[in-house]
Amino acid sequence: MAEGSGRDADIERVIITEEQIRQKIDELAKQVSADHAGAEGGILLVCVLKGAVMFMADFARALGRYGPQLEMEFMAISSYGQGTTSSGVVRILKDLDRDITGRHVVIVEDIVDSGLTLSWLMKYLQSRSPASVEVVALFRKPDAIKVQVPTKYVGFDMPTEFVVGYGLDFAERYRELPYVGVLKPEVYARS
Ligand code: XMP
Ligand code: MG
Repeated sequence: MAEGSGRDADIERVIITEEQIRQKIDELAKQVSADHAGAEGGILLVCVLKGAVMFMADFARALGRYGPQLEMEFMAISSYGQGTTSSGVVRILKDLDRDITGRHVVIVEDIVDSGLTLSWLMKYLQSRSPASVEVVALFRKPDAIKVQVPTKYVGFDMPTEFVVGYGLDFAERYRELPYVGVLKPEVYARS
């Protein structure tokens, strides 16, 4: 990325553009909608905060154009880990607000890295007797996978590199970028 000002100035390289994200979300919404046509009670989207916040907002609106009926829930979980890696030991910071028994649940996840967080979340939600649980993840790092998670819907596969933007952060910054990119090395050096 050219030397920009403000938020763009710290980005070394854009990996996925705003337009690519928009198109992909529309495709994912069409698929999820088609697969849930006639699903009793519609779809209960479960957003995993904070990283999936942008994806949830755009995906829900895209899905709304195709149906079926939607409801939204938000969970916040934190995985105990060192720096930028996850350990698979998960703590719930914010739980679901309601019972999901008999519901068709779609987990809305930002990125599948080792798969440990999602694997834990799938088991947690399945233990609450939903009618079904599927995952839609906008990004996946296939080479980083440690535990296989049945992720039915995936937007983009990407290299095993730390990325920011479109909800993804480094030290809580850069979530507002409309694209996904890699930070310049000096950004880490000065933090
Ligand atoms: P695991 O390894 O459990 O991790 O699949 C998934 C969670 O880790 C975070 N994550 C990232 N966050 N840039 C980020 O800002 C990244 O490149 C990245 N890779 C993983 C993210 O919260 C995800 O839900
Ligand atoms: Mg994060």
